[in-house]
Amino acid sequence: MEVTNRYVAIQAHIDSTTAPQETKFVANRYVTIKAHIGGAPKDSDFELKSETVPLSLAPGSQDVIVKNLYVSIDPYQINRMKHCSSSQKFSYLAAALAPGEIVDAYGVGKVVVSGNPEFQKDDLVVGLITWAEYSVIKPGGMLRKLDTMGFPLSNHLGVLGFSGLTAYAGFFEVCKPKKGEKVFVSAASGSVGHVVGQYAKLFGCYVVGCAGSKEKVAVLKEKLGFDDAFNYKEESDLAATLKRYFPDGIDVYFDNVGAEMQEAAIDNMNIGGRVAVCGVISEYTDGARKAAPNMIDVIYRRITIRGFLAADFTNVYADYMSTTCDYLRTDKMQSLEDISDGVESIPSAFIGLFQGHNIGKKMVRIAEE
Ligand SMILES: NC(=O)c1ccc[n+]([C@@H]2O[C@H](COP(=O)([O-])OP(=O)(O)OC[C@H]3O[C@@H](n4cnc5c(N)ncnc54)[C@H](OP(=O)(O)O)[C@@H]3O)[C@@H](O)[C@H]2O)c1
Repeated sequence: MEVTNRYVAIQAHIDSTTAPQETKFVANRYVTIKAHIGGAPKDSDFELKSETVPLSLAPGSQDVIVKNLYVSIDPYQINRMKHCSSSQKFSYLAAALAPGEIVDAYGVGKVVVSGNPEFQKDDLVVGLITWAEYSVIKPGGMLRKLDTMGFPLSNHLGVLGFSGLTAYAGFFEVCKPKKGEKVFVSAASGSVGHVVGQYAKLFGCYVVGCAGSKEKVAVLKEKLGFDDAFNYKEESDLAATLKRYFPDGIDVYFDNVGAEMQEAAIDNMNIGGRVAVCGVISEYTDGARKAAPNMIDVIYRRITIRGFLAADFTNVYADYMSTTCDYLRTDKMQSLEDISDGVESIPSAFIGLFQGHNIGKKMVRIAEE
């Protein structure tokens, strides 16, 4: 097997030849891509494979075998599945995936066997596991013990996981909001977006979100307390739409989608506005679609446009966790989750992200605890 950076952390296919005798073997079903993906992902791009794996380690091994419980389904994985994407070069988490390779992904699991003194059997763990039923984590892998703090396991993939950190760091550290400012969030009912909007409201901003259905718009306004929301699929002139929702202009735009929505937001920004470019999902599946904001507006309105990666903001992790746990415990914040069941549902769960099927954090429950 070819060794890449990530395989310092994860052994894709579990080696059954070194297992001690008397070992219990199980079937490990996992999801992989058949070939590189060019446009929007479809069912036929994926394969569900199975391998027989030992639930024991060779003497001296420091690996950890994890039974996967929940795995995260994230838009960025599509860029790893392409033959080539600039994202693949700049973060080991976004490294290219080869056809046939198991997909590593954030998730929660339970330790089955451990050769690593940091972990014991039955420990709950969170980190980089795989789109599979079992994962083998090599020494140095991104894995830590999970203290649930009384929250459901699923929360640790969403509002208390990477999505939550993305929302917190992106909003507070990148957008640098001031109370009373006008905030616009795209893909606002999604995993990151619904948390951003709630942080912004709780901080004292005026918040409008956009999403792709009536049902999502209702959730934003009625369940999450957004000041307003609209279905962008019903609008033909996005700049005019935003002018309607923000007659006094936008101060902060949290961009999850890119392309024409970004152009329209910048068209409506106030002097000194900030754009946090979190993601550009509408461009991931269509290489020809690119935001081309009016740079004269950017200059004369002194707008800051900044891309960011949540992984760069571990410095705010403690603040993020204590603030968010407090909001959840006091019911000031709602966590939206969209859960499919079984490893076999991973491809459709993933495809659904690009068709707007999910409300809140998309994840797959692989097994009960
Ligand atoms: N920078 C970072 O560190 C970081 C970390 C996590 C995520 N991200 C990025 O943040 C964004 C949101 O991620 P997420 O995990 O929270 O996903 P998500 O919002 O839960 O799911 C994707 C949502 O995007 C919307 N969407 C899909 N295709 C679209 C299109 N062509 N145009 C407009 N909207 C579209 C859909 O909602 P609608 O029904 O509203 O269309 C869909 O439900 C993504 O761009 C992702 O790559 C960045």
